[in-house]
Amino acid sequence: MSILLASSWTDISPYFSQWKKTLDQEQRDIDVRLYPDEIGDIDDITTALVWDPPSGLLASLPKLKLIHSLGMGVDHILKHEDLPEGVPIARIVDPDLVTRMSEYCVHSILHYHREADRYDRYQAERLWKPIPYPAASSRRIGIMGMGKIGADTAMKLKSIGFDVAGWSRSPKNVPSVPSFHDKDGFRHFMQHSEFIVCLLPLTPDTEGILCASTFNMMPDGGGIINVARGGHVVEEDLIAALDSDKLSFAKLDVFRQEPLPKHHPFWTHPKIRITPHNAGITNPETAAAQIIKNHRLALRGLTPNNIVDRARGY
Ligand code: GLV
Repeated sequence: MSILLASSWTDISPYFSQWKKTLDQEQRDIDVRLYPDEIGDIDDITTALVWDPPSGLLASLPKLKLIHSLGMGVDHILKHEDLPEGVPIARIVDPDLVTRMSEYCVHSILHYHREADRYDRYQAERLWKPIPYPAASSRRIGIMGMGKIGADTAMKLKSIGFDVAGWSRSPKNVPSVPSFHDKDGFRHFMQHSEFIVCLLPLTPDTEGILCASTFNMMPDGGGIINVARGGHVVEEDLIAALDSDKLSFAKLDVFRQEPLPKHHPFWTHPKIRITPHNAGITNPETAAAQIIKNHRLALRGLTPNNIVDRARGY
């Protein structure tokens, strides 16, 4: 009755060792194994705790009762076509992760709202040159994806005074944040939004949503912050929108290929800022308990918490 920690990423082992240590401390009677070295007898593995699992691994575990994502997203699991049928997939829902993500988004909005990049350039030239900027109340921010992180980001930006709206697949009710939904609301939402924060799950419907036709709906000179998935962005369209001044910036934490290849044009684009997919990283200290609980529920044949709808994709 073991938990297998697995990823196809090679540089993740210090993080995985931290996970193993925390899970061991949390519950000493549970056997936690690190893939590939400690896999042992595959008949023992009932929970796979994964981030971008190696292909074929999940299908090869005959006694699997639960697939648990190490993050809030599950696209890294659902992309595998040979997923075992009937095994529930759970994701992390952790206030610590929500706070880290919304903190990143608020920081990014303030960075561009207060022209931090231009002042960096001015300082390099010893240029004393105040730049006029609008009041927060007339800066229109659009949050794509109004789940827990979107709602928290919206509330924090509201408390600073920004004019915030949200868009999501189904109607959402976040106090005093106008909410658009579905395809019909999308154009109005984009026309409203100078700065976009993308927090959507990656599904066939949202793949490539940040593309030329979307950018063209936005006010000229707007910008995007993408902390969701690289697959939301059509990369050539983003570069064209930045080069034509349709957009004035892109802050990107996620990419179609991660790590971002060294030769990728995003690295050197003057209007793009990059962080290495760490806007929010799941904290073993705060998230271990929910994984243990789900592992035990699955063992008892009960439904674990935060189960994903495979068809919907989140
Ligand atoms: C991070 O990208 C996550 O899915 O939690």
